[in-house]
Amino acid sequence: MEETLDTVLVEMDEETGLGHITLNRPDKLNTINQQLKSDLTTALKSLREHDKEASGVSVRAVVLEGAGERAFCAGADVSGFGDRTPGQFEQRTIFDRLADFPAPVIAKIEGYCLGGGLELALACDLRLASAESEFGLPEVELGLLPGGGGVQYISRLAGPAVAMEIAMTGKRYSTEFAEETGIVSASYPNSEFDEAVDEFVHELARKPPLALRAIKDAAHRSVETGLAEGRRYDRRVFSTLLETADHEAAAAAFKSDDQPEFEGR
Ligand code: COA
Repeated sequence: MEETLDTVLVEMDEETGLGHITLNRPDKLNTINQQLKSDLTTALKSLREHDKEASGVSVRAVVLEGAGERAFCAGADVSGFGDRTPGQFEQRTIFDRLADFPAPVIAKIEGYCLGGGLELALACDLRLASAESEFGLPEVELGLLPGGGGVQYISRLAGPAVAMEIAMTGKRYSTEFAEETGIVSASYPNSEFDEAVDEFVHELARKPPLALRAIKDAAHRSVETGLAEGRRYDRRVFSTLLETADHEAAAAAFKSDDQPEFEGR
């Protein structure tokens, strides 16, 4: 499956179950305008629809990246700022749609990752970055707070002090800083980046999909509920997963020392 929208490309490899979404405004550093928001929504819906209709492999993991080597995404397209009304910001957002996607979404970050671009990456489940990327929340310079949850996400990953530092200074920070503070999960030298991410996501796509989904749900719940409730959820889902064909396939493969193949049921 392959779809070219105005500002986003979406692909799905039927064999591996890997989806790819590329923000495709490289001349404008993949900044977010209304069209890109709408195209990103369409791309995520297309991947979900594919799952419903799939005769073969369902979507196992999705990579979100920016076209070109200069930017993952440099944030909101400020040229459209005057056209917006406050009401627009109360609707369900692309950040919610990424967080709710039923398979892991990995942000592949190369270059500028700023403002709403960093918030897009934060709404993903994992962030992998090239060594020379730059991270920041410059909204303060426009008299704004990052509206896509940037301070909330960074507070959870790295603590409120780091979130305040990034959002209050509006400065750009290195990949090294982002990795040390836990904002990105791993980084790679630029020359090895594509290969390393490819290897990582292919490995992830071979894991049992129902377990991946359950782990994503459990991790999201962990920041919303108390420990006792979270542990009850984990126990309940654990029992459900014990009954799945994927668990049976994994157990059989373990005994016979084979590579299991998972069907997501
Ligand atoms: N909105 C709209 N256009 C943007 C943009 C933004 N946020 N950020 C960059 N662009 C455009 C530039 O206008 C330029 O377009 P042009 O070639 O048609 O003039 C193109 O992207 C390349 O940007 P440029 O500034 O020439 O690249 P650079 O490497 O010198 O600097 C940045 C890159 C990211 C440091 C700089 O563009 C910048 O600070 N952008 C604003 C980032 C920001 O504040 N984002 C959050 C908004 S809330």
